[in-house]
Amino acid sequence: MTTTLIPNEINVNDRVRFYSEAFPKYAPLHIFNGSIYGEWRLGQNFKNTSDYWGAYPEQYLPRATSLFPEKKEVLHLFSGKTPPGDYLRMDKNPANGSEIVGDAEKLSSYAKIYKPGGFDIIYADCPYTKEDADHYGYCMISRPKVLRECWQSLIPGGHVVWLDQVVPQWSNDDWFLEGIIYMFISSNRRVRAVSIFKKVVV
Ligand SMILES: C[S@@+](CC[C@H](N)C(=O)[O-])C[C@H]1O[C@@H](n2cnc3c(N)ncnc32)[C@H](O)[C@@H]1O
Repeated sequence: MTTTLIPNEINVNDRVRFYSEAFPKYAPLHIFNGSIYGEWRLGQNFKNTSDYWGAYPEQYLPRATSLFPEKKEVLHLFSGKTPPGDYLRMDKNPANGSEIVGDAEKLSSYAKIYKPGGFDIIYADCPYTKEDADHYGYCMISRPKVLRECWQSLIPGGHVVWLDQVVPQWSNDDWFLEGIIYMFISSNRRVRAVSIFKKVVV
């Protein structure tokens, strides 16, 4: 049977169900006060074949994208060595081969050109510290500035899935914090937070 997904009707209950259907053997995500919460222990499944500094663990994107099967207009921001696919990638370093080469702090001016109708979802994986930013040869970003640029580049009801060591500062006027999932890779590695923001439109 084919199910037609209507984006505006999808809620957090559907999202945790999508995740459990995709990963029936993993601990389920939960809902409290209308938000998703949970933990992803990559553990023995941890694998990273990319030697790029700060690359996603291979388990991350399959899990994160399983929550949002209806999203069509997708941007990977701070895309690094994310392989090409049915989405756009944006990174400041031209050597990484992304479709959009530019500064995330100016994202909305690029979005107007590359996706004038707006993105449905943005997956972001910024440098976490000044030391990380130094590895790439760039200044550390302003998280609030980039989050604001994401807001301007999304359709109403669009999402940002932001992987970081912190939950970036957000405004309740702009965003509903629809979920936080803690990601634990293995001992002595950084614990990260996957923050899920939904664009609020008044
Ligand atoms: C943590 S890495 C992302 C790695 C990526 N998830 C992967 O799997 O390869 C951060 C990326 O942000 C890029 N970057 C740093 N500052 C940036 C900025 N101001 N605008 C856009 N990209 C930036 C770096 O070039 C680097 O590729």
